[in-house]
Amino acid sequence: MVSIIVAVAENGTIGDKNTLLWHIREDMIHFRTITSGHPVIMGRKTFESIGRPLPKRTNVIVTRGDNEFEGCKVAHSIEEAIAMFPAEEEVFIIGGAQIYEQALPLADKLYLTIVHHPYDGDTSFPALDMSEWSELSRQDFEHGEEFEYPFSFIDYERKK
Ligand SMILES: NC(=O)c1ccc[n+]([C@@H]2O[C@H](COP(=O)([O-])OP(=O)(O)OC[C@H]3O[C@@H](n4cnc5c(N)ncnc54)[C@H](OP(=O)(O)O)[C@@H]3O)[C@@H](O)[C@H]2O)c1
Repeated sequence: MVSIIVAVAENGTIGDKNTLLWHIREDMIHFRTITSGHPVIMGRKTFESIGRPLPKRTNVIVTRGDNEFEGCKVAHSIEEAIAMFPAEEEVFIIGGAQIYEQALPLADKLYLTIVHHPYDGDTSFPALDMSEWSELSRQDFEHGEEFEYPFSFIDYERKK
């Protein structure tokens, strides 16, 4: 099973200059809770932005190059990355924009964090056709412990 997990601003922005635009402690914990114990697949730029393999997860870096990344597996396409794991295993696509764009048609599930505030940035999530997705659960927050804007965790599955 292929899942996408992303935090996206209300105007679609997900990053700028190869970094994130916000720090929401609750969202970091949400991401860690959902992905721990599962494989995570990411583009080479997102890996460089994080700077280290995420612990307690098999990290797969997608690149067209022939570099190796310490503590990580390497795949040369998204399909190759997904095929490293049994179909019943939930694998998480964790970005960035190039990888989300290509993986979206392959995804069965979406874990969206929506930040209810617009951000300027150079990287956006691809447009979603919400008629293809059913909402499974939703949690709304007026703000975080140290984050001033509202945000929501919304999980979707692809309609059969
Ligand atoms: N808000 C969020 O939830 C979230 C999550 C993740 C990332 N981000 C943000 O997204 C931004 C990075 O996204 P990005 O789009 O610039 O980069 P990216 O998707 O992380 O990585 C792009 C790289 O992936 C490789 N790649 C892409 N398609 C491939 C394919 N079909 N086959 C093989 N390799 C392929 C290429 O690596 P090579 O150049 O090595 O060939 C390419 O340069 C950052 O700002 C980051 O902070 C946000």
